[in-house]
Amino acid sequence: MNIPLVLGNWKMYKTCAEAIRLVQQIKSGLPSGWVEVGVIPPFTAIAAVSRELADSPIALGAQDVYPAAEGAFTGEIAPPMLAELGVHYVLCGHSERRHIRGEDDMFVGRKVAAVAEAGMSPVLCVGEKLEERDHDEAEAVLLRQLSVGLAGFKSDGSAGLVVAYEPVWAIGTGRVATPDQVAAAHRFIRDWLSVNLKMTNPPRILYGGSVKPENVDSLYNIPEVNGFLVGGASLKADSFLGIINIYG
Ligand code: PGA
Repeated sequence: MNIPLVLGNWKMYKTCAEAIRLVQQIKSGLPSGWVEVGVIPPFTAIAAVSRELADSPIALGAQDVYPAAEGAFTGEIAPPMLAELGVHYVLCGHSERRHIRGEDDMFVGRKVAAVAEAGMSPVLCVGEKLEERDHDEAEAVLLRQLSVGLAGFKSDGSAGLVVAYEPVWAIGTGRVATPDQVAAAHRFIRDWLSVNLKMTNPPRILYGGSVKPENVDSLYNIPEVNGFLVGGASLKADSFLGIINIYG
């Protein structure tokens, strides 16, 4: 069985100095439970956080990447640049990039492949918008995001894959999906992965969307949930550790 994973996505928050302070607080409060923990700072703080994590079991992640090993792409960051800094997890297709920056499934799929190619673990983020759920299209959206997003992922390699189910209507809204909705979506993703990717080690499927210490209990008991991708509640050590502690 896979060890559960809790990732904190800091989005566009935390200067370098703030990021160092936060990671020091997380390190000092980390429980010794059966759980893997990772932090995902903004690009500018990755090197500093990486140094801070040198003697720690906490994994390092990045929020995005450009799908090319190098090139004339002003402002972009290549996978080997992240790998060099000790980055292990890279978010691909977070809903804020899909919906604010207009990234489509094909582009997200190229990122997943590029991250795995560089020896890191892609975290493919999937999830439907509210109108898609209201029109009964949630599974069709997941199907499209999984099949296009993972078209270039070679499941025979050693690269680990993580999938994060994040219903767009639950991200940053305080409105968490019900346990039944989460369980159904996770089962759908799990079934799709087991039919289409023949991996010896099944990918972990995380839930994300307004996860907080106050609601994590109801999500923790869902067998299909292998951990959490946490946004707002990962910006303070107390609340992030409160979520991690459920595994402590
Ligand atoms: P949230 O963000 O926990 O603030 O809803 C989750 C995410 O965007 O990954």
